[in-house]
Amino acid sequence: MKEEEIIKDLEKYNQTRLINILNKVDKNTKKEIINEVSEINLKELERLYENIKNTVEVDVGELKPVKSINPDKLTKEEYNEFENAGIDVLKNNKFAVVIMSGGEGTRLGYNGPKGTFKIDVEPRPKYLFEIMADSIQRANKKYGITIPWYIMTSNKNNDEIVNFMEEHNYFGYPKEYIGFFKQGELPLITEDGQLVIDENYKIRKAADGNGSVFKSMRDRGVLEDMKEKGIEWVYIGQIDNVLLKMVDTLLLGVAIKEGSEIATRSVFKDFPRERMGTLCLKNEMVKVIEYSEIPEDMIEAKNENGEMLFGESNITCNLFSLKAIEKISLKDLPYHKAHKKYSYMDENCKMIEPVEPNAYKFEYFIFDSFEFFNQISIVRGKREEDFAPIKNKEGVQSPETAIKLYNDYWKKQKSEMI
Ligand code: UTP
Repeated sequence: MKEEEIIKDLEKYNQTRLINILNKVDKNTKKEIINEVSEINLKELERLYENIKNTVEVDVGELKPVKSINPDKLTKEEYNEFENAGIDVLKNNKFAVVIMSGGEGTRLGYNGPKGTFKIDVEPRPKYLFEIMADSIQRANKKYGITIPWYIMTSNKNNDEIVNFMEEHNYFGYPKEYIGFFKQGELPLITEDGQLVIDENYKIRKAADGNGSVFKSMRDRGVLEDMKEKGIEWVYIGQIDNVLLKMVDTLLLGVAIKEGSEIATRSVFKDFPRERMGTLCLKNEMVKVIEYSEIPEDMIEAKNENGEMLFGESNITCNLFSLKAIEKISLKDLPYHKAHKKYSYMDENCKMIEPVEPNAYKFEYFIFDSFEFFNQISIVRGKREEDFAPIKNKEGVQSPETAIKLYNDYWKKQKSEMI
């Protein structure tokens, strides 16, 4: 597109601040900015702006509790039947894993991609990527296979992650079985719908959330690659759960036996007001409701055994059939917005440091994909076995809590093996 056309487009979408900046900068800077604008979908910008203007009332409607499988309540025969169905998929090389590592890890406050963060576990400190590599390697050894491992990065952290993995010799994982792919980005916008320009005259963008994984797999050729390899099932997990079990044969078997295209591990809330996304049925479809959106009378609701009705919680441990991923990758997931503070260039090319949140970042969430499916299998996991996330610098879900869970888990495994 020519420069005049791009400026016309900017006018059409009311990008007055940027137009004023363009009128003040030198020729080269102008050219660079125009180049960047040409890669932005301005029509989408309009949709983002609509999204912040219309504060949608959350319509939770009539929610019902989900049904889950509690492995502790299965007979040995039932358990084995599920497991064997899962193992069959592995042994036929129809299984792959994806680790999402495109997040910014702002709450942890570590200067680098989370996967390169080292935690002081026993018997020796390990990087999060190393913990993931070890976990898949254990399954490879057990089943005599090599599972293709894909790592989703962002524009911001891709090079750092790729170099880090190379420097550490992929933690012993066969290099030819590892694939990196970048997720998408969305521009930030200020409260009045204007693009945000930073001190280097660049348009500020941010990774578009973990729900970007489906589209990014399509756009970056990962789906094609998996199809060529004959993959039928894909586990998608997050880098910051140090007890993540990607090779979850029980979950896989349950999905197959129940005829579901998606299966998820949950954990049960410790107490009704625990801040976790709740798995519910809305119009008979599985949906994750943020803890802040659950209607008050449902929070404390109990069944006849005195068990919390809405205790089943989302821990982002998800398994998808490749067909499901293909289907979702063609859908538009909703945007979730976060109101944050971002410095920006005003129309006189002066940088402004806001004191209050002034702009919105937009993200897709992986769990919004559930609503495209009539049925999702849920297997209840345990915190001490499945869920040790590192989100915050200190306190809950911090390196300290994750290290303890990790050490306790492995101590127990070893004592059971003796
Ligand atoms: P979170 O939503 O917890 O975000 O990511 P985060 O980036 O780790 O941390 P904060 O919120 O900035 O403090 C959950 C998982 O999803 C991945 C993260 O890397 C993590 O594995 N993720 C998140 C992405 O891959 N891309 C994104 O755009 C966002």
